[in-house]
Amino acid sequence: MSGIFVTGTGTEVGKTVVAAVAAHTLAADGATVAVFKPCVTGLDELSADGPISGDIGPKSARRLADHELLRAASGSGQSDEEIAPYRYGPPASPHLAAALAGEQIDPERLRAAAGRAAAGAEAIVCEGVGGLLVPLAGEYLVRELAVELGYPLAIAAGPGLGTINHTLLTIEVARAAGLVVAAVVLTPWPHEPSELERSNRKTIAALGEVTVMTLPEVDLAAPDSWPELRFSR
Ligand SMILES: Nc1ncnc2c1ncn2[C@@H]1O[C@H](COP(=O)(O)OP(=O)(O)O)[C@@H](O)[C@H]1O
Ligand SMILES: [Mg+2]
Repeated sequence: MSGIFVTGTGTEVGKTVVAAVAAHTLAADGATVAVFKPCVTGLDELSADGPISGDIGPKSARRLADHELLRAASGSGQSDEEIAPYRYGPPASPHLAAALAGEQIDPERLRAAAGRAAAGAEAIVCEGVGGLLVPLAGEYLVRELAVELGYPLAIAAGPGLGTINHTLLTIEVARAAGLVVAAVVLTPWPHEPSELERSNRKTIAALGEVTVMTLPEVDLAAPDSWPELRFSR
């Protein structure tokens, strides 16, 4: 069983893209791949501009939700529920989105769902929510879930100004909790990186004592054109 937990320096930094490309690579290698995301929020914003389409590809009438993109990328036949046990409309932190729905996220349910997903596959790619210190329920943060699952981390981060601080903070929090950082992935990595971007890459590798990978801009609607993204075990 190989597994990776994709976190990031925050929200909208490329976690889903990194997780999708990693899952697609594993599937292309011939593995049965499961995907898992503890909680998806912001579904209201996706359905605002068109009919629902679960298909990846040019015909998609709206941006896919994270669990839909992960399913399409991995080729897994998992249901929405199996991939993401908690799914909410408002774009809010999981603990708040759950509270707004009159619910509370149950860590045990997350552990059980992640375990079931892993049991049905040869490899699993998990995507966190926001960054490592995002609350799921009370003091149970994304970090706590990552520690319980025990997979190495891939940290998605932007290539530009501000990324050194955000990335090193994430690495410190991860290692302090006993998590192993497999790699940082700078995304989207420009075709012609500037001096700042090239310097960021080197500086994060040196100060974070970490492998820094890069992912160029991909066409999310065309998985066959995606590059390979593999994390060494
Ligand atoms: N390598 C990439 N290729 C194409 N788009 C990217 C890439 N990296 C990030 N993006 C874009 O950045 C935005 C945030 O990415 P996403 O993976 O959804 O972030 P997160 O999961 O961290 O919230 C999306 O619009 C996504 O398409
Ligand atoms: Mg995401």
